[in-house]
Amino acid sequence: MRIVLLGPPGSGKGTQGEQIEKQYAFPRISSGDLLRAAVQEKTPLGRQAEAFMNRGELVSDELVVDMIRERIAAPDCRQGYILDGFPRTLPQAERLSGIDQGRRELVFDILVPDEAIIRRLSARRICSGCGAIHSFHSGGSSDAATCAACGGRLIQRDDDRPEVIKHRLEVYHAQTAPLQEFYRNRSVYHRIEGLGTVEDVFQRVKDVLETYSSELKH
Ligand code: AP5
Ligand code: MG
Repeated sequence: MRIVLLGPPGSGKGTQGEQIEKQYAFPRISSGDLLRAAVQEKTPLGRQAEAFMNRGELVSDELVVDMIRERIAAPDCRQGYILDGFPRTLPQAERLSGIDQGRRELVFDILVPDEAIIRRLSARRICSGCGAIHSFHSGGSSDAATCAACGGRLIQRDDDRPEVIKHRLEVYHAQTAPLQEFYRNRSVYHRIEGLGTVEDVFQRVKDVLETYSSELKH
């Protein structure tokens, strides 16, 4: 099975992806996390991606598609995988449909209004040790200064500054929202209400996944 998490920045793709990964043991492939790791390691990909990411713009389709194609080919993806943040342009979605053809694909479009997104992203902190997603002062997973899972230091992403958040939302509405139409024309598209607690949202995701229970067993 291939699970695609669509939805605007801050809608909870990473948070819900972590929950699905834990419950169903499919690896979560986050295009943003892979790109941030490449930036950190100063690889050629990271060097090309960094300026686009800091401005809240998308990295070129070519670079991202090659990165995801390579990751999907790894042995841990044989039983299935979760795509978090990919695809996010029509050319990426078209290229993805040619990769791993024949595999069952479910698309969850997690929808949250822009005002709630701005609040969530301003409060988000990431563990510098294990990458776990936290929230400060937002009723989210943690108000602590260190990660509950590994004790690592919590940091703010460079693109979670107010002016960059606003631009990421503009980019989403212009370039990624059209994917709703692309996927709605297929039988696999599920709209998920993204407001409510993390558990509420995950219950909505699980209600859909359980209808495919025979395909979730490894
Ligand atoms: P990426 O890392 O994918 O960022 P994004 O899409 O902007 O999404 P986020 O990670 O910001 O949000 P999320 O939906 O994962 O929400 P989260 O679960 O963290 O991409 C970053 C950049 O990389 C892009 O701008 C681009 O430059 C580049 N890039 C990546 N993919 C690309 C691609 N395919 N093509 C081209 N370029 C690409 O939750 C957010 C916060 O809310 C957290 O603090 C969380 O704790 C909290 N929260 C979650 N759920 C709830 C809830 N139910 N209630 C309250 N708080 C909640
Ligand atoms: Mg994310």
